[in-house]
Amino acid sequence: MDSLVINGGKKLEGNIPISGSKNTCLPMMIASLMTNEPVKLKNIPMLSDVKTLISILESIGSSVKYRKDEIILETKKIINHKASYELVKKMRASFWVLAPLLLRLGYAEVSLPGGCAIGTRPIDIYLEILKKMGVDISVKDGYVVASVKKIIKSTKFKLKKRSVGCTHFFLMLSCLADGKSELSNAAQEPEVIHLGNLLISMGAKIKGLGSKKISIEGVDELSGIDVVVPSDRIEAGTFAIAVSATGGKVKLENTTYQENENLLKVLEKSGAKIYKSTNTLIIEKSVGIVNPINVTTRSYPGFPTDLQAQLMALMTISNGKSKITEKIFENRFMHVQELVRMGADIKLSKDKAIITGVDELIGANVMATDLRASASLVIAGLMAKGRTIISRIYHLDRGFYNLESKLNHCGASIKRIRD
Ligand code: EPZ
Repeated sequence: MDSLVINGGKKLEGNIPISGSKNTCLPMMIASLMTNEPVKLKNIPMLSDVKTLISILESIGSSVKYRKDEIILETKKIINHKASYELVKKMRASFWVLAPLLLRLGYAEVSLPGGCAIGTRPIDIYLEILKKMGVDISVKDGYVVASVKKIIKSTKFKLKKRSVGCTHFFLMLSCLADGKSELSNAAQEPEVIHLGNLLISMGAKIKGLGSKKISIEGVDELSGIDVVVPSDRIEAGTFAIAVSATGGKVKLENTTYQENENLLKVLEKSGAKIYKSTNTLIIEKSVGIVNPINVTTRSYPGFPTDLQAQLMALMTISNGKSKITEKIFENRFMHVQELVRMGADIKLSKDKAIITGVDELIGANVMATDLRASASLVIAGLMAKGRTIISRIYHLDRGFYNLESKLNHCGASIKRIRD
């Protein structure tokens, strides 16, 4: 397993181009199964999660052609109704293939995704949606077995918990259902809007994207499309936090203030300066005081859970006490014990972390436990005194494209040791 060796204490200066969004392109790739025409996606980050999904789509019958950051997916015929445990266990988002399989074949078997490092992550709401849409479901040998007699039934549904995945799932199913559907308490994340816009370009009739109530009128079929995947707000936010932690000045290209407004306000309070223009952001921080912050993660437009671990790394060197409350996933504090190994002072109590700032972090051997926790350790390594070795960085490769070369280009010293 590869590891990263970081020699910390260097300021970041330069430009970083933000790549296409992982959490946008995954549902878009799955939505390509809803038509037998080609779907071309540009600006794809060729991450390990994208490669895993390509294998799943190929096993279902898609022809997948890719060159650099462009991918063409064409599924003339579905040849397999089953998404196996071996593939689904690698990536939870692959569970969403259940929706297009049902729409195209009327029958599907998809492995239960199971728990993961950040929490139990149940699928109860997905199952409620399926039942409400007239789908017969059972769980057999770890697989969700779903079948529908004729066409998916349109319905009105309220999410008991705001869920990005369930909103994607509902959108996909209802846009080919037999009439008008409505989703209340829908997720408002940009990734939902991007998937909805893709479906609209393919011929779907959807209104209210970005609000808590989305209305969908079923159509008979969808067609192929050629789109550019928008940039990754979590990657942009991670680099913005990194600069706030090391000091320096970095221009982030292909990103907007709006998508990360909540984080950027928090960074300004912590002492960073943010300059925004149409498609770029400049983050500037002079080395010195980091003000403490209290933050609670919430669904969009609240503070994103996917940036919580990275912000915590920054708070370890603030000049006071910060409080971070995690409200989305019950076990998303795996990075805490690793940050403590580097000298951080963090106390956990249920869903709260109290971080008392220390003068500096000291490099250590640490272990990545999930994707965003890995990014938190990279930030900690960049600002720590001495050498940090991060093992198990395959987590990082699932979601950050060319991370070390982008940071090294701005003056960081990060080396990958291949095993
Ligand atoms: C998406 O996961 C993202 N993944 C996650 O990013 C992100 O952390 C999460 O949304 C929240 O923003 C992708 O887009 C591929 P949810 P998702 O359903 O859709 C509960 C990363 O690091 N829930 O919005 O799976 C759930 O347990 C990843 O890139 C139920 O209770 O998350 C959680 O508490 C990690 N029952 C809450 O809803 C259900 O049936 C929100 O989760 C479904 C969800």
